[in-house]
Amino acid sequence: MCIIGGTASKTIAEDLAKELKVSLVKTISKRFPDNEFYVRIMDDVRKKDVIIVQTTYPDPNLVELFLLQNAAEESGAKTITVVIPYYSYARQDTKFQDGEPLSAKAIANLISLTADKVITVDPHKEHILDFFSTSAQSCTAIPEIAKYLKNKKIDMILAPDKGALKRAKQASQIINCEFDHMEKTRIDGTTVEIKPKNLDVQNKNVAIIDDIISTGGTMAKSIKELKKQGAKKVYVSCTHGLFAGEAIKKLSTAGCDEIISTDTIKSRFSKVKIAPAIAKLF
Ligand code: R5P
Repeated sequence: MCIIGGTASKTIAEDLAKELKVSLVKTISKRFPDNEFYVRIMDDVRKKDVIIVQTTYPDPNLVELFLLQNAAEESGAKTITVVIPYYSYARQDTKFQDGEPLSAKAIANLISLTADKVITVDPHKEHILDFFSTSAQSCTAIPEIAKYLKNKKIDMILAPDKGALKRAKQASQIINCEFDHMEKTRIDGTTVEIKPKNLDVQNKNVAIIDDIISTGGTMAKSIKELKKQGAKKVYVSCTHGLFAGEAIKKLSTAGCDEIISTDTIKSRFSKVKIAPAIAKLF
């Protein structure tokens, strides 16, 4: 078995190679003057079980993944396992209106063409795994995030909506604290409404946990509501930190005490490593 790290997920690939005690394959890559991507596998992967690790966000990383899969296939790999720390387009997991693509399926179809197995982390909804025509599995970052939060004297874990309650419950069991959820209604891609729900947060340290922080709208509204209700400290944590646009500013203006994310998408808030969670699936 050997591991190839795409440019979006080099650190995860290195960590995974250490966890699984397997070798890391050398690759070289560059961009052509017109910005097209070039990659070459420098080690012999013939008849080997190859694991490719690459987050598919933003779009150029998706193209790189396709090229890596093809390079591994052309080089005679025995099997190809694709590890996608953050699987992009997963939120378009249904046709909300006529004429729309089923994006999560469209991408899954292409990845499945040369993958024997796909692994991803906290997909927005688990049913997107069925879109892959090859075997697909997910793992969760929640235990790793909870381990980090355990040192922060958290009194309560909150899900920003009912859909994320399972995650909050799992984290609260590891931390050994209370859990609850907020009432969220999504108005559009950038606007959410968080209904005040009377939670007992007076003087408590609260951590909100979600799969994704994108525009930060969900978290910012939740932080404001919690502070209004008397919370002492509010931590926000997520598996995938997209931090689109002014997200960071929104979170700090809302009074966020700390932002925590994993390294599925690398940022300065990637305080939790995801490789140990992925390694458990091998
Ligand atoms: C939605 O259901 C997800 O779980 C997240 O709550 C959402 O993607 C966060 O988006 P934003 O940061 O833009 O509010």
